[in-house]
Amino acid sequence: MAGSTGRFITLEGGEGAGKTTQSALLTQALIERDLPVLRTREPGGSPGAELLRGILLDGGVDWAAPAETLLHFAARVEHVAKTIRPALDADTWVICDRFFDSTMAYQGYGQGADRGFITGLTRLLGLAPDLTIVLDVSETVAAERMRRRGNPADRYERLDEAFHARVREGFRAIATAEPARCVLLDASGDVATVHTALMTVVWRWFRPAQGSPRIAG
Ligand SMILES: Nc1ncnc2c1ncn2[C@@H]1O[C@H](COP(=O)(O)OP(=O)(O)OP(=O)(O)O)[C@@H](O)[C@H]1O
Ligand SMILES: [Mg+2]
Repeated sequence: MAGSTGRFITLEGGEGAGKTTQSALLTQALIERDLPVLRTREPGGSPGAELLRGILLDGGVDWAAPAETLLHFAARVEHVAKTIRPALDADTWVICDRFFDSTMAYQGYGQGADRGFITGLTRLLGLAPDLTIVLDVSETVAAERMRRRGNPADRYERLDEAFHARVREGFRAIATAEPARCVLLDASGDVATVHTALMTVVWRWFRPAQGSPRIAG
């Protein structure tokens, strides 16, 4: 990505944290600044990866955790190759709703897949976000938002409270371990409050320091 002015931002967090809501608002805010922006999501984001999304979320298979991990990474490799890399190479800001931290949180922390295996696959991917914002809400707030949203639950949403608590702890652990990439954001406020806080994080993160961006392109 040498020389690219594209930036890669991922939004992470459990069900109902507000990732989809906030990625839409962030995208809109960047467009209003006349920045080229592509909004995408995982699993999915390219034709092959969307096929795998269907298999993963509603395919009716209870996968062994390592197999599920590999399917997520297969979709991710395809998504990076066909959608994310070309956009970054074209100097576009890429906003992605979930990325590899979701695999670590759900399959690693939630389902007990080997975390070293996931870390290895993450390294092999060869692309990390410039900034990851982890939206953090209590299980109570998340459950209430999901109840109000009312869509039919997918495979992950149907898993129990203990699973979702492990996922949340996983995201918090990732954010703590990787402060050079991740910011943990309290997402329990209303939509506008969270958006304002998120935009503050984004502008601070990418504001040029001494003439160069904080994260080199
Ligand atoms: N800050 C907020 N306060 C209240 N309700 C919110 C807030 N953010 C999002 N919502 C609502 O909560 C529900 C879940 O939000 P959203 O779909 O953005 O979450 P998500 O993190 O993308 O969830 P999922 O992981 O299931 O895709 C939606 O109905 C949305 O309108
Ligand atoms: Mg969503």
